Amino acid sequence: MNTAFVPAEGTDPRDLSVADFTVIARIAHAHAGLVLHPGKRVLVGSRLAKQMRANGCSDMHALVTKIVHDPVVRRAAIEALTTNHTRFFRESHHFTHVATTLRPRILDAVRARKRVRLWSAGSSTGEEVYSLAMTLLGEEAAEARALLAGDVALLATDLNAQVVEAGAHAVYPAEALADIPPALAESWTEQEGAGFRIGAQARGLVRFRRLNLLDEWPIASPFDAIFCRNTMIYFDAATTERLQCRLAQKLVPGGYLYIGHSERLLGAAAELFTSVGQTIYRKVEA
Ligand SMILES: C[S@@+](CC[C@H](N)C(=O)[O-])C[C@H]1O[C@@H](n2cnc3c(N)ncnc32)[C@H](O)[C@@H]1O
Repeated sequence: MNTAFVPAEGTDPRDLSVADFTVIARIAHAHAGLVLHPGKRVLVGSRLAKQMRANGCSDMHALVTKIVHDPVVRRAAIEALTTNHTRFFRESHHFTHVATTLRPRILDAVRARKRVRLWSAGSSTGEEVYSLAMTLLGEEAAEARALLAGDVALLATDLNAQVVEAGAHAVYPAEALADIPPALAESWTEQEGAGFRIGAQARGLVRFRRLNLLDEWPIASPFDAIFCRNTMIYFDAATTERLQCRLAQKLVPGGYLYIGHSERLLGAAAELFTSVGQTIYRKVEA
């Protein structure tokens, strides 16, 4: 007979019952579009363990009850369920495209005194938007000056308030420097303690906001380009298609959409864009 101690259901933070997991999965889907498959039950339990302690709950069921009834606890729990993995210059072909195709257009727009707006939707801790900012600023001092003097702004949004705060702070560990092309790191980052910080000029181009992509977007001006990468992979097809159509509405005609390597345009959204590169799309002109 196996005499090993088996905790009673609800006493181990990772011990989320099937019924409670089903409740959490329904809430995560309804509020954030996140699809949690049954195989993720232990992972979800371990991600909620901190919430359990923070809310003084003695077991998972008590936490799930709070999540159902208290919007503040619910929001923190959903944020804890997000996956925030990212890195500087991830999927580097996108930044090559920005440098060779988008940046010259942006410089032309700046010289013509036009407004330029870019959006990193699902920005996590900011590595993506700062990669974009550094690519735009580039290596030429005169071009960088023109960009900095122009009406250029990058918006970075994420559902998770903690990653939004980290992105605005813009301090990263030393290891991450290896992901940034040396000339750009040299020009646009500065040493900070044992790590580095994105320099004030690149930071000054970017503003961070908490935004749930499923909610209303309080964003007035259209974007010249949107990065929405490795975020839709957590959504189902209907949510993804709806989001992609909404992103299209927020792009100027001819604006660029960059999506993650395992994502694709779905249904009606596919009609709104033409493919111009690997996971790079242009909104069709009306
Ligand atoms: C894996 S990260 C991707 C970061 C970056 N775009 C990249 O490709 O490296 C996915 C991000 O999407 C955010 N996210 C998930 N659901 C969201 C939603 N409904 N609204 C806004 N952001 C969401 C998560 O918080 C997470 O930071």
